[in-house]
Amino acid sequence: MNRETALALTLLTQGGCDPLQVRLARVRGGMSGATVLRVSGPAQPLRYVKIARRHYAASLRDEIARTRWLTACGIAVPHILQVDDQSDCVAMLMDAAPGLPIDDSPLPPSRIAAALGAALAALHALPAADCPFDETLATRLARATAAVAEGDIDGDDFDDRNSGVAPDALLARLGAAAPAEDIVVVHGDATLDNVMIDDRGRVSFIDCGNAGRGDRYLDLAVMASGIAENFGAAATKEFARAYGGTRDDAKARYYLDLYELF
Ligand SMILES: Nc1ncnc2c1ncn2[C@@H]1O[C@H](COP(=O)(O)OP(=O)(O)OP(=O)(O)O)[C@@H](O)[C@H]1O
Ligand SMILES: [Mg+2]
Repeated sequence: MNRETALALTLLTQGGCDPLQVRLARVRGGMSGATVLRVSGPAQPLRYVKIARRHYAASLRDEIARTRWLTACGIAVPHILQVDDQSDCVAMLMDAAPGLPIDDSPLPPSRIAAALGAALAALHALPAADCPFDETLATRLARATAAVAEGDIDGDDFDDRNSGVAPDALLARLGAAAPAEDIVVVHGDATLDNVMIDDRGRVSFIDCGNAGRGDRYLDLAVMASGIAENFGAAATKEFARAYGGTRDDAKARYYLDLYELF
């Protein structure tokens, strides 16, 4: 048994599950350095365990604090059922967000796009001044600077519009052109992989470790780009209509470029 499985079984026991009655299946590799396990069994609801070790542990601690804060604000995110925090390793047990990944939803694209727009608008309507987590541009640029300096960013992964641009050149361009911020509570990593939708169009957010005070375009740019890629331009109009407000294409491009360094 590997260390992750052993930790997951301990956490499940602490959370009141019978480890002999469950099946653990590793979820296909996330980007965050965490291990995610799907926990199923005949006599219990579906759950997930997320485990992070060494330098990834701090990110999972952030995710736990931010997810709990969003729960307290009434946002649909997984409930954290149990946490085991040791110095070099953190594990959390959470319930499954209801519904399906966007890719598997039987709902029509226009309905999905509208549901995503409304869900993001509700998140962005939380009082940002009450949010203790900082995801403002200064914080994001500082994080990007560290990631570029450590060689964590591979320019070959950039979108076509930035093809051939070196990570440090992109960072310099972004640092020199910072737009004025319009601060709301953001999810902070609003890809379509990080939302679930049920058959009535109710949206839940998962993977909330980068939620905090930040510009609304941190989310709008990334989510609109995912919707355009998956469902086409008509669906992005539906998304924008349901979200409400004005559209700033230059700012969206800026935040998409910033996301290249995320
Ligand atoms: N509570 C949950 N409910 C439903 N599905 C979940 C839950 N937690 C994780 N998953 C599934 O596992 C996948 C990976 O989880 P998560 O996004 O938290 O990991 P990650 O390593 O941070 O991933 P990435 O960095 O790729 O976004 C999700 O995209 C989702 O399919
Ligand atoms: Mg994710």
